[in-house]
Parts: sequence; structure tokens; C-alpha cells
Amino acid sequence: MPETVIQTRKLTKEYVREDYHVFALKEADIEIGRGEFVALMGPSGSGKSTLLHCIAAMDRPTSGEILVLGQDLSSLNERDIAHWRNVHIGFIFQSFNLIPVLSALENVELPLNLTALKKQERREHARNALELVGLGDRLHNLPRQLSGGQEQRVAIARAIVTDPDLILADEPTGNLDAASAQEVLNMLSRLNKEFGKTIVMVTHDPHAARFASKIRYLEKGELLPDGRTPADWNLPAAEATSG
Ligand SMILES: Nc1ncnc2c1ncn2[C@@H]1O[C@H](COP(=O)(O)OP(=O)(O)OP(=O)(O)O)[C@@H](O)[C@H]1O
Ligand SMILES: [Mg+2]
Repeated sequence: MPETVIQTRKLTKEYVREDYHVFALKEADIEIGRGEFVALMGPSGSGKSTLLHCIAAMDRPTSGEILVLGQDLSSLNERDIAHWRNVHIGFIFQSFNLIPVLSALENVELPLNLTALKKQERREHARNALELVGLGDRLHNLPRQLSGGQEQRVAIARAIVTDPDLILADEPTGNLDAASAQEVLNMLSRLNKEFGKTIVMVTHDPHAARFASKIRYLEKGELLPDGRTPADWNLPAAEATSG
């Protein structure tokens, strides 16, 4: 049994307005071990992003417990959270979220600006990360001078440049054509297998989910029971993705 790196107990996120009440997450219990590659699936609005954001400490639950890498996230204040996230989490977004006026190299260097590394070392780390994702020859391109697949690979380089324990990806292939999606999935798979990174990936795409070692399914904020492998799922063709 590998070390548990993500553990939630009755994790609940509620949105209440005057005439509106939604459980984005309802008493979700999940346990993820070091080195696992877990795909989170479920219909639009089922709480996938909410769960991922709670794990990344980008969102706070209404109730329940969440321990990530042994840290009780509820005990961190906002400033500590930003630092904790920068050290431990690499987050990959569907729409890449690169800064348009910065080069690939500068984008990847950003998370290192909060560390004690010297300028030269930051450059070196960023260059290495870009080489790892096959973009060693695109260091000085701006995002708009790259294809979507290349932009997402820059975003992956940015996510791994701090050597985080955990990589979280929210529909990382949602905006990509099939060939670019395949490259991104191969990359994530390699980070998992070769570098031992724990990965949680939200996806609508059954093909993408097959790269994971385990699939967990959410429905209306509730996690369906554990214990299935990708091969057990006889999922319909990919649904249209939505933000
Ligand atoms: N800030 C908010 N205010 C009110 N309701 C919200 C807010 N954020 C999310 N929700 C609601 O919580 C539920 C879960 O949303 P979430 O974004 O986690 O779904 P999702 O599974 O990621 O969906 P998708 O596949 O469309 O990205 C939805 O019903 C959504 O409308
Ligand atoms: Mg979502």
C-alpha cells in the first residue's frame, strides 16, 4: 500500500443563494496513494473541478476534511497556502493559462520567482523543463507563436519546473486536436511512470482516462464507489467538453 498523499473525509462544497442550493461536492471520501494516476470523470456540473480545486487549495470546502501530502489544508492561511501550492502542486488548465506577453521560457520560470533560486539557476531549470517536454527549440517563442499542443506542453513544463509531488490537470486535452492530445497524455504518463509523479486528471474523454491507473466517477457532487479499473468501464463515445 503506497503512502497516502490525498485524503478527504466527507468533503462538501455547498453553494447557497436565496433561491439556489447546490452541492458541488457532497461528503466525498477519496484516498489517493503516491505514484497513482487517477482520472476523475463525470457529467458536466458533477463537481470534478471543485474537487480538483479543493485538492490544490484553490478553493475551500464548506465542511469535511482534506489532507494533502500530510498537510491539513484548513489550517493554512492565505499566504501560507500560496507558498504551499507553489512548492507542492503543479496545475494544468484546459486553456493553458500562459501569460501572452512572456516567452515560453519566461512563463516556465514564473513559479521559480517565488523560490530562493538565483536568476541563472531559474533559467537553467526552466530550460530543462522545456527540453523535457520537447520544446528546447522554442524557448523564446511567445504563446501565440506556438500551436495549442505546444502551448499545453509549455504549461506542463511550468507545472513541473518546481518538481512538485502532485500534478493536477483539469481537462488538459479539452482544447486540443487528437494528435496534440495524445502527446500531452504521453507526457503525463511519462511523468507518472518515469518520474513517479502522482497525477489527478479531470477528463471527459474515455480515451484520455485510459492513460490513468484508476478512474473515479462523480455524479451530482457524489463520488461513486472505488475499485474499478479503466478496462471495466464501457463508456460511451467522448462527450463534448465544457469548461
Ligand atoms: N462559484 C460558484 N457559485 C455557484 N455555483 C457554483 C460555483 N462554482 C461551481 N458551482 C456549481 O457547482 C457544481 C459543480 O461545478 P464544477 O465546476 O465542479 O463541475 P464540473 O464537474 O467541473 O463540470 P464541467 O465538466 O462542466 O467542467 C455545478 O452545479 C456548478 O454550477
Ligand atoms: Mg470542470
